[in-house]
Amino acid sequence: MDHHVYIVPLDGHYLYNYLMDNKTMKNEHGGNVSEISRRCGIDEDRIIDFSANINPLGYPPAVQETIVKEADSVLNYPDIDSFDLISGLSEYHGIDRDNILVGNGSTEFIYWIPMVFKPRKALIITPAFSEYEKALKMVGTEVSYFPTEARKGFSLAIADLCSRLRDGFDIAYFCNPANPSGLLTSKDELCRILARVSDVGTLLLVDEAFIDFVEGESVKKEVFRFPNLMVMRSMTKFFGIPGLRIGYMIAGTSCIAKIKENKPPWTVSSLGQRAAAKALLDGDYIKDTIKYVTTEREFLRNALDEIPDLKTYESAANFILVHMADRICLNSTELRDRLVQEGILIRDCGTFHGLGTRYFRVAVKKHKENIVLIKKLRGIIG
Ligand SMILES: Cc1ncc(COP(=O)(O)O)c(C=O)c1O
Repeated sequence: MDHHVYIVPLDGHYLYNYLMDNKTMKNEHGGNVSEISRRCGIDEDRIIDFSANINPLGYPPAVQETIVKEADSVLNYPDIDSFDLISGLSEYHGIDRDNILVGNGSTEFIYWIPMVFKPRKALIITPAFSEYEKALKMVGTEVSYFPTEARKGFSLAIADLCSRLRDGFDIAYFCNPANPSGLLTSKDELCRILARVSDVGTLLLVDEAFIDFVEGESVKKEVFRFPNLMVMRSMTKFFGIPGLRIGYMIAGTSCIAKIKENKPPWTVSSLGQRAAAKALLDGDYIKDTIKYVTTEREFLRNALDEIPDLKTYESAANFILVHMADRICLNSTELRDRLVQEGILIRDCGTFHGLGTRYFRVAVKKHKENIVLIKKLRGIIG
């Protein structure tokens, strides 16, 4: 179908029709504020973005200070080894430098891991971030799924997973806390899976993009007990720096060396390296973030649950998955499009494997913004 790009006013029917005609935005991720702004003619600052799960407090103040102060660092190539940032991460986690590798967002590793390890068969615990599958398919990996179920609160059936792992997968993917459900699987439970993957020789990639909210449950230190474990981390969400693109791997030295050998040089910018290293030092920001997100998440969850026919799921992260009962006449895509008219973006979860069109996800944002979301939702479906 031809896509006509034209500017439409925020109010009136044009925007709604435009979105409906195009069966909506192509981008299957959250956070596409500039795309919506461009395509729909809405100023970016009139949009409240609940679709990307970025720290509502913004980034630590040192990020901006460093970018301004160190602007001239862009005159040189970045440090190819990200030495200072890796030293900072090593101190922050209490993990040796040799067990850490920094990349251009964790997405860089999502794409490198299949290229480096060349898995023939992969298992993804679903619903999950769509890029895992896309990256695996690029190298011809056969992808299978292990679904977690809504009726069980998306909890992981450990015993069933352990028996499924007997089917001989080269690699398995698991996100903890899970995205989009938000559910945390405890470190102890994950260690049971780690024991099984070690027995059967499967690599396990644990994506901990949202674990900073519950750092004590990270399996980062298990990389020393389980050489099959690779932990993927991101500074995007918790530290509020999606635009700087900082992610990293924590793994055994041989896995790290193997990825490093194949990784292109200079993928991590000088300003990204410097600002991220400074961000890690701000203990107050880290404490404040956890406190704010925990309080606001509870507020938002309760408020959403009070809207008739909406049901939320338990979350350990800075977002909440919401189910819409069949009595609501809109599906999740239609709801998203209605909210866009109000300048609000939510994540329609229809593109997540196994979820269908009755689920949406919202980030936990500032209190005032959360109240706006609740009011708008009440206006549309309440
Ligand atoms: C579960 C999960 N993992 C990884 C990523 C990639 O994050 P980044 O490349 O910004 O580190 C995302 C981004 O949305 C995500 O949701």
